[in-house]
Amino acid sequence: MNQDSIVSTETKLGEPGPSRKVFIKTYGCQMNVYDSGRMSEALAGEGYVATEDMQEADLVLLNTCHIREKAAEKVYSALGRLRDMKNERQAEGREFMIGVTGCVAQAEGEEIIRRVPSVDVVIGPQTYHRLPEALKRARSGRSVVDTEYAVEDKFEHLPDQSRAVSARRNVTAFLTVQEGCDKFCTFCVVPYTRGSEISRPIEQIVREAEKLVSAGVRELTLLGQNVNAWHAEGENGERLGLGDLLYRLSEIPALKRLRYTTSHPRDMDDRLIEAHRDLDMLMPYLHLPVQSGSDRILKAMNRRHKAADYIALVERIRAARPDIALSGDFIVGFPGETEEDFQATLRLVETVGYAQAFSFKYSSRPGTPGADMPDHVPDEVKAERLARLQELLLSQQHAFARSCVGKTIDLLLEKPGRLPGQLIGRSPWLQSVNVDAKDVEIGDTIRVRITGTGPNSLFAEVA
Ligand code: 5AD
Ligand code: SF4
Repeated sequence: MNQDSIVSTETKLGEPGPSRKVFIKTYGCQMNVYDSGRMSEALAGEGYVATEDMQEADLVLLNTCHIREKAAEKVYSALGRLRDMKNERQAEGREFMIGVTGCVAQAEGEEIIRRVPSVDVVIGPQTYHRLPEALKRARSGRSVVDTEYAVEDKFEHLPDQSRAVSARRNVTAFLTVQEGCDKFCTFCVVPYTRGSEISRPIEQIVREAEKLVSAGVRELTLLGQNVNAWHAEGENGERLGLGDLLYRLSEIPALKRLRYTTSHPRDMDDRLIEAHRDLDMLMPYLHLPVQSGSDRILKAMNRRHKAADYIALVERIRAARPDIALSGDFIVGFPGETEEDFQATLRLVETVGYAQAFSFKYSSRPGTPGADMPDHVPDEVKAERLARLQELLLSQQHAFARSCVGKTIDLLLEKPGRLPGQLIGRSPWLQSVNVDAKDVEIGDTIRVRITGTGPNSLFAEVA
């Protein structure tokens, strides 16, 4: 998951309504964006209406990310500001509640209340369906901390996503199919904050997908920290994997596009690669993090594959789907990383060629094995390596964008553009594309020719 790709997004739920307003600030990955949506829906049942203006909110939720150090510190400084707001509101005799959800909530638990007693509720990712009840309890005086791994299935208790999706007229939607991780990469907190791997049952996923499509959704992105570890048991006891799920979902009439994120190289099985070969609607874009190109570092990271395995895998995927674009995550300055190791990462990037990538300085996370390893790399060295890696990745990204110019592609129209007559959609490779088009509607797929590149998007004309 690109825990850093979306720094913050305010959840929108624009239904008119009475009483209370909730403002949700989302940090981190797409899973959090999905969760914020679901929490917003759970709160709608309690009379809460979402607002994008924190000033008018009666409840502020910070849906947090814990992947790197600074993320938690950002949350604490935001909480400091919220505490001041709460004091002002209370002086005016108005209700103002503060909630912390997501991975920082899970990791810090009671500590959040200890550091900022004004916080009313702290809820971990597995107990969102209990948020309304926790708020009721908190209203009667005491802060509530609920970071249990609940025995009941939260998805069965959360309200239907499709109502809100149809109110917002969304063309694209996220659908969480898998949560948690059992891989224990030595740098990562996810196995501790999101717990061990769980797959949602196939019928539950198909039902949610069908409802979303009936509500107008045309593109679904399946989500999971380790999405390609998703598995289920088939009717005859056979093991089903993500590939099988994609084939099943591709049968839903009116659904036009499928994506999934984030994948681990070790879980890219044959069936999933076949799905890339067979399903046109499975978009030719794959986020496949490798983290490092050095075998020594990959081993220390407990990735359990070598650089050559990854390159061979990419070759197999490209053979199945030649137009596939790759995206990745990289960490520089993992403990013990030498200049030579780093050079191996640069070489891997050169060999693979990425259309898009996220790269980070290693951030030591207490409780993970990496934190206790010797030879931590000085920050200046990490910064310098990151700059070199990003220069290379950015040049590949620009080269990829330029290579799209002149191509005719299908564009799924998602929203109006800034100028009259302009619409914005996504290319198969997830790039944002601006086009001037008449007599078309949001949700239509049109043929367009890419005419140029902008800083973060492409321009196109109707073909
Ligand atoms: N330090 C730096 N980056 C990290 N990531 C995960 N944990 C850390 C860490 N401790 C990065 C990985 C992962 C992405 C979501 O965040 O690259 O794929
Ligand atoms: Fe973290 Fe590794 Fe699991 Fe990804 S696969 S969530 S990096 S432990």
